[in-house]
Amino acid sequence: MLIETDRLLLRPLIFADEPALAAVLSDAETMLWYPRPYTADEVRQRIGQQMGRYPEGSGLLGMVEKRTGKLIGDCGPTWQEVEGRMELEIGYHVNRERWNQGFATEAAKAVMDYAFRRFNVDRVISMIRPENMASRRVAEKNGLTVDRVVFWRDYDHCVYQRMRSR
Ligand SMILES: CC(C)(COP(=O)(O)OP(=O)(O)OC[C@H]1O[C@@H](n2cnc3c(N)ncnc32)[C@H](O)[C@@H]1OP(=O)(O)O)[C@@H](O)C(=O)NCCC(=O)NCCS
Repeated sequence: MLIETDRLLLRPLIFADEPALAAVLSDAETMLWYPRPYTADEVRQRIGQQMGRYPEGSGLLGMVEKRTGKLIGDCGPTWQEVEGRMELEIGYHVNRERWNQGFATEAAKAVMDYAFRRFNVDRVISMIRPENMASRRVAEKNGLTVDRVVFWRDYDHCVYQRMRSR
């Protein structure tokens, strides 16, 4: 799984990415809309979880800024169960130092195109807390719209969807 955009290389995570990924997932402000920031152990487990997903073509990928070679976040498709149905969800997290430069939008767009090529799905989704305006904006810039609001993992979430274009 390698996805390239103008400014980014999305590639499988490796355990050596832990410190750079922890700078994102263990940061309290970044994880405001999650139950709590990840511990170092949880970041490692999460990298291992993605490694288990890569053979079938899903999983969050490391988001590497081509200009600097630094890992500045993650983005990728993962299967999630939402109200009894398996859905392909596109997730993204970006290092706070790089917010509002279009990186999440650029990565998510490329991942969405990849997901429609790789998987026989009618739609992709992003599960977003209603209060998470930055994430909602990313979804909307990529043409996703709110299908419905569901109670999921202890919180209300907007189910943002984009249908496959025929
Ligand atoms: C959501 C997130 C990935 C966006 O990353 P990013 O690289 O900054 O995203 P982009 O630069 O592509 O787009 C962000 C957009 O949100 C807008 N935005 C940022 N904060 C906002 C706010 N509080 N209210 C409204 N819009 C906001 C930006 O202005 C930008 O829109 P614009 O291009 O029209 O100006 C980043 O904020 C993040 O990592 N958040 C924490 C993790 C998270 O919530 N992930 C998503 C889980 S569903």
